[in-house]
Amino acid sequence: MARILVIEDDSSLRQVLEMFLRKTGHEVVSASSAEEGLRFVGDNEFDLVLTDLKLGRQSGLDVLSRVKASAPECEVIVMTAYSTVETAIEAMRRGAFDYVGKPFKLDEISITIEKALERRALSLENIRLRRELSGRYRFDQIVGKTARMRQVFDTVARVAATRTSVLITGESGTGKELVARAIHFNSPRKDGPFVVVNCGAIPDTLMESEMFGHVRGAFTGAHTTRHGLLESAQGGTVFLDEIGEVSLPMQVKLLRFLQEHTIRLVGGTQEVKVDVRVVAATNKDLHQEVKAGRFREDLFYRLNVIRIHLPPLRERAEDIPYLAQHFVEKFCREIGREPLVIAPDVMERLKALRYPGNVRELENILEHAVTFGRGRTIEMDALPEHVRQTRLDTLSPLEDVTQVPEEGLDLEARLEDIERRILLNALRRAGGVRKDAATLLGITFRSMRYKLAKYGLGPPLEEE
Ligand SMILES: Nc1ncnc2c1ncn2[C@@H]1O[C@H](COP(=O)(O)OP(=O)(O)OP(=O)(O)O)[C@@H](O)[C@H]1O
Ligand SMILES: [Mg+2]
Repeated sequence: MARILVIEDDSSLRQVLEMFLRKTGHEVVSASSAEEGLRFVGDNEFDLVLTDLKLGRQSGLDVLSRVKASAPECEVIVMTAYSTVETAIEAMRRGAFDYVGKPFKLDEISITIEKALERRALSLENIRLRRELSGRYRFDQIVGKTARMRQVFDTVARVAATRTSVLITGESGTGKELVARAIHFNSPRKDGPFVVVNCGAIPDTLMESEMFGHVRGAFTGAHTTRHGLLESAQGGTVFLDEIGEVSLPMQVKLLRFLQEHTIRLVGGTQEVKVDVRVVAATNKDLHQEVKAGRFREDLFYRLNVIRIHLPPLRERAEDIPYLAQHFVEKFCREIGREPLVIAPDVMERLKALRYPGNVRELENILEHAVTFGRGRTIEMDALPEHVRQTRLDTLSPLEDVTQVPEEGLDLEARLEDIERRILLNALRRAGGVRKDAATLLGITFRSMRYKLAKYGLGPPLEEE
């Protein structure tokens, strides 16, 4: 049941509409002029306004503009006997849901009305998500509704105030860097620098001088004294990303730094005091690394004073609608566009998908959808092809891929699903370069290209 306002100066048509809408179960208020109608709009919340275009002194277009100004989510349908292309375009431009030419049959207009009400319900759902997002289901830029994520918010808020080391763990794309930034920007050091050190990307031979700096003449090529990354974070926070990649000799030096809060430049003799807070992250299982002798136990305990673990997205599916809404708003804002509404079947699909790339993958899908979405709603056709084509029944959780359920399974489809996911992961690891992804998987470039085409993945064939 919806609340509908009918504004129509033709009394017989007004009565027909009123009766028809009541019979369909809606609550109806009617007015015979724009002025009278707008008075109702002021005091009531309507889901839908049906207005005539030609209404004495003020036109239906005025009604439309006023309604949209005071209640943007209320849908408006314009009825007109003088349907020229210009007025129709003008009505749509001012935000009408649709217009219908008079005379019309009741079942004709009733389809339009039902569609408008569907949209309205969607908007309400989106508004609800948005409201909850601006309140308790977010911390800074981090979004989450599940208990596990709210626990993360809690920990972030509490450790931010201290200078304790924090270790953030979680699979790729789960938001480790986002959390590290939140810790810094909610801490008393927020006006100091936030320095990201990607430990996996710095060659081992350069690591020490990059981190600690070096004095002039410390080694061939060291023409001047240079300060390191740790010193450049003075008064702020250093984010040691991919800490699991650091070599054992370097781990010793880091440990010393964590204990003494001092550094010594390569080739130097003086100890320099640095006030830096350390936040480290890894997608490796450091316990495992310690056991395997690849990570020093003492450094592990130094870093692990506070641990924040970010669960993979598959373990917090209830966060998906909120994250989706958050990303749609973000990307719409970036391109200066009204927030798009996510259609229910699209949301269902997003909730059912598996995300080996976690939140980053969901974010990429929505960026694509906002870019390609037409109109005011994100429909299926705006989703990337691989998302549209993935058969949901093959999207079993990765943990279970070898399990055979009671009802049996389609082996070919299951294997294809696994292959597709491995291809995606290889592409991701290779930064999107197909040749490198092929090498990672020990297959030829030709074969890679063939497989990607088969699954509708990757760039068109002209590239590279
Ligand atoms: N809870 C969240 N709310 C909003 N955005 C998120 C959330 N988690 C992740 N993101 C977004 O997803 C993307 C990936 O997050 P981030 O770079 O922090 O992941 P990561 O764990 O560091 O990944 P990697 O291990 O691959 O470096 C970013 O754009 C980030 O803003
Ligand atoms: Mg990261």
